[in-house]
Amino acid sequence: MRIQVPLLVLACCSLGFSEHLEADQNIIIPDHWAHLGRVNPTEEIELTFALRQQNVDQLEDLLLQVSDPSSPQYGKYLVLEEVTALVRPSQLTQKVVHQWLQRNGVSHCQTVLTQDFLQCSMTAQVAEALLPGSQFHRYVSDGQSLVRSSSLYQVHRDVLQHIDFVGGVHRFPPTGQDLRGVLSQRNRQRPLEAKFHLGVTPAALRTRYNLTATDVGSAQNNSQAVAQFLEQFYHPADLAQFMVMFGKGFQHRSDVDKVVGTQGGGKAGIEASLDVEYIMSTGANISTWVFSNGGRHESQEPFLQWMLLLSNLTDIPWVHTISYGDDEDSLSSAYMQRINTEFMKAGVRGISMLFASGDSGAGCKYLAKGGNRFRPSFPASSPYVTTVGGTSFKNPFKITYEVTHYISGGGFSNVFKMPDYQVGAVNAFLKAQSAPPPKTYFNTSGRAYPDMAALSDNYWVVSNRVPVPLVSGTSASTPVVGGILSLINDQRFLKGLPSLGFLNPLLYQLKGRGLFDVTEGCHLGCLDDLVQGKGFCASVSWDPVTGWGTPNYPALLAALLERK
Ligand SMILES: *[C@@H]1O[C@H](CO)[C@@H](O)[C@H](O)[C@H]1NC(C)=O
Ligand SMILES: *[C@@H]1O[C@H](CO)[C@@H](O)[C@H](O)[C@H]1NC(C)=O
Ligand SMILES: *[C@@H]1O[C@H](CO)[C@@H](O)[C@H](O)[C@H]1NC(C)=O
Ligand SMILES: *[C@@H]1O[C@H](CO)[C@@H](O)[C@H](O)[C@H]1NC(C)=O
Ligand SMILES: *[C@@H]1O[C@H](CO)[C@@H](O)[C@H](O)[C@H]1NC(C)=O
Repeated sequence: MRIQVPLLVLACCSLGFSEHLEADQNIIIPDHWAHLGRVNPTEEIELTFALRQQNVDQLEDLLLQVSDPSSPQYGKYLVLEEVTALVRPSQLTQKVVHQWLQRNGVSHCQTVLTQDFLQCSMTAQVAEALLPGSQFHRYVSDGQSLVRSSSLYQVHRDVLQHIDFVGGVHRFPPTGQDLRGVLSQRNRQRPLEAKFHLGVTPAALRTRYNLTATDVGSAQNNSQAVAQFLEQFYHPADLAQFMVMFGKGFQHRSDVDKVVGTQGGGKAGIEASLDVEYIMSTGANISTWVFSNGGRHESQEPFLQWMLLLSNLTDIPWVHTISYGDDEDSLSSAYMQRINTEFMKAGVRGISMLFASGDSGAGCKYLAKGGNRFRPSFPASSPYVTTVGGTSFKNPFKITYEVTHYISGGGFSNVFKMPDYQVGAVNAFLKAQSAPPPKTYFNTSGRAYPDMAALSDNYWVVSNRVPVPLVSGTSASTPVVGGILSLINDQRFLKGLPSLGFLNPLLYQLKGRGLFDVTEGCHLGCLDDLVQGKGFCASVSWDPVTGWGTPNYPALLAALLERK
């Protein structure tokens, strides 16, 4: 009676015993992934269950208090144990989910310290029965192999209220901020410039941002981290060579202190080399960690694996910089809301999360003629991270003032509403615009980003032992800002002050103090009749292209040391 199985599944769903958790998740397979066919029913896959947390509203209130210098709670951060006590799923949630898994024959599960994620291995057959509607297939791209479902999944009605989403079913690994695209395009367009162009080096950054030779870390427990999700590796030898070539004139380290996750032996990636080399050049002499490709199982989501790690480690670095983004409209809102809660969990621990704003300006979702819209990117659009845009030198042959780098990601979220801390700044921008893009292109009620910026154009990187010029992208500006915030943390620690933690409430209260305002240039937008390739333009004070501007270290340090 083999036929009974599918009949039963059909009966279950059409009768409404199960429902979608992520009905709005995009399940289009990205072009570069080739389909290899359905996975064998006995093959093992690994799924991640995000259990419904408690007290998320309280967590949010608490985050805003510990991050707001005008609150008596400012800087009174929680340790992971206290975060657990606050958000841990209720006993009912844990019981219902465990029973559901058990009933379906799932018994190999691991949890994290905060108890709000479960990671379980099971056969594809069990997974497909557990998640009606799912059907697991194998895809390959560039030597990487993945297992994902080609169709949306449902869960039993009993667990609907107890699970936020299931990881490992849909999302493909992020493509990063398409740094390689920008790089190769630059090489093609401007071959001559490479010879004469100054290029961005640690020395150029330290000069522009007013870092003296003695502006390096020295506090005992300071630390910073970069995270990679692109099957890319940094090579210790590249970092060492980079520091020999470019690390003159300031005390620095030439080694990473800790690699969490798997460092493959393959070729170094430009992206991985860039992040490590530059966070260690501005955040010089500070202990640095690399989170590398967490989640190597074919059915894991690397970014999600990294988020789980943060909830499973009691001691993690104070500053994290991440160059990863996806279009908001490709991700389910349940997933984005939950990841946003994970950022709050990091923030209440006093940890600063910095994300690249993206390399497509305002982006564009091409719809019907006359109906195009800008296309925000996540996590850049999360209200609980600090998002970093990009600039270029006005004169590429000199260390002068900065202007907009046309790729700098920026805009307004369609998912997250505008947080209170930025309402004044954003409304002032909207009012002052002389020729704004049509209102139909963006959502003025959404979280607006970026928050600040740094140089993102024409970096020198050492990769596979070769110095490479013309590397560009907000992937470059983000670790630069990360290193500078780490230096400020360092000075705070030496004075017995807490870390900066989630910076935005304070950053917006400073109203640009300590930053170089970027007021020239526009970034990319839709290539159509109405906006003709233009998104937003930089202007005096905050704007959705370069935020409040780029760091003037001594002035920013002074401003951020005042807040106790
Ligand atoms: C969390 O850490 C514990 C102890 O280090 C480990 O046993 C467990 O497998 C980890 N959880 C996950 C989901 O990796
Ligand atoms: C920092 O740099 C800017 C421009 O390069 C300069 O005008 C300023 O005087 C410097 N020093 C401080 C403390 O801001
Ligand atoms: C570099 O950091 C160490 C602590 O990690 C400190 O002892 C040393 O003094 C620092 N170097 C400088 C030049 O500040
Ligand atoms: C550094 O961290 C260790 C372990 O977390 C702690 O015992 C020590 O007191 C810390 N030192 C300082 C100077 O904060
Ligand atoms: C605009 O953003 C808000 C969140 O601030 C959201 O609720 C709404 O759906 C968005 N509108 C569109 C058309 O996306």
